[in-house]
Amino acid sequence: MADNNLQPLLEVKDLSMHFVNGKRRKQSIVKAVDHVSFDIYPGETFGMVGESGCGKTTCGRTIIRLYDPTGGQIFYKGVEISGKMTREKRKFITENIAMVFQDPIASLNPRMTVQEIIGEGLKIRGMEDPAEREKVVVDMLERVGLQKEHATRYPHEFSGGQRQRIGIARALVVKPSMIIADEPVSALDVSVQAQVINLLNDLKEEFGLTIMFIAHNLSVVKYFCDRIAVMYFGKLVELATSDELFAHPCHPYTRALLSAIPLPDPVSEKTRVRLSYEPPKNRDESLLSYHTVAEGHTVLCTDEEFEEIMKNY
Ligand SMILES: Nc1ncnc2c1ncn2[C@@H]1O[C@H](COP(=O)(O)OP(=O)(O)OP(=O)(O)O)[C@@H](O)[C@H]1O
Ligand SMILES: [Mg+2]
Repeated sequence: MADNNLQPLLEVKDLSMHFVNGKRRKQSIVKAVDHVSFDIYPGETFGMVGESGCGKTTCGRTIIRLYDPTGGQIFYKGVEISGKMTREKRKFITENIAMVFQDPIASLNPRMTVQEIIGEGLKIRGMEDPAEREKVVVDMLERVGLQKEHATRYPHEFSGGQRQRIGIARALVVKPSMIIADEPVSALDVSVQAQVINLLNDLKEEFGLTIMFIAHNLSVVKYFCDRIAVMYFGKLVELATSDELFAHPCHPYTRALLSAIPLPDPVSEKTRVRLSYEPPKNRDESLLSYHTVAEGHTVLCTDEEFEEIMKNY
């Protein structure tokens, strides 16, 4: 659980990642991540949710510097990892933060065996001896619930859940201090989702990991995450502990996401009302700022909206 007296492990400050699409006259700018700030504390599981295209993957990829941020700063263990890339910085990032990629099919090279895929990171880190690498890979495979025999097989020979386990093994084999798990379970059946989440939880304890967990909907993150950030069109619109967010969702978009969670009881499920969120038309974006609703609970809104929120809190 997060302890707020601790120094944050990861600090994301006013981060922006804008993409320019198209050529010259037909250029358009996609503000995939727009002035986003949050901290992640050691040992915490931090959830990031929001609908498709709201910028979750871009945020993760920018943190590990697969993209050059167009604005803002990122610090890890107090060291700036944004700004001009250097060899030391790259080494520091890869040693500390590993990403489990969203698409387990596209992110695993089809021409490499599982042994090669998982062992690659060890090789980069200077583990030259193939026998030593093999041993570490087999240990890791067993740790994520796969078998020794799987090491010589290729990604297409595995199910979705197994591929996700390979992705997790690849991320963890280099013993990072943090992993960014990008929708590690959304492509899986519900029963397999629970298995992969339990696995992540166990590994978190065992390796003393900090996790940033990206997901589409709130039901998956509710029990797994200590705190949750809700993203909407590149903006972080609400941030709170998991319990607080479910008890007092303040942003209308968070409420809409909550209303989308199916209820286990068929009677109440029948009467469940799904809310949808439409941002107010012609709203002056410059009037939006972060307001503190309760300790550690912030919401992006106008002053007027904040007054309304506090009346109903
Ligand atoms: N490399 C890129 N070049 C241009 N635009 C991009 C690039 N990557 C992402 N985008 C755009 O940025 C926005 C955010 O995309 P992103 O993949 O981060 O969303 P997401 O929240 O991860 O969505 P999903 O839930 O579908 O995975 C989208 O509009 C997307 O089209
Ligand atoms: Mg994504």
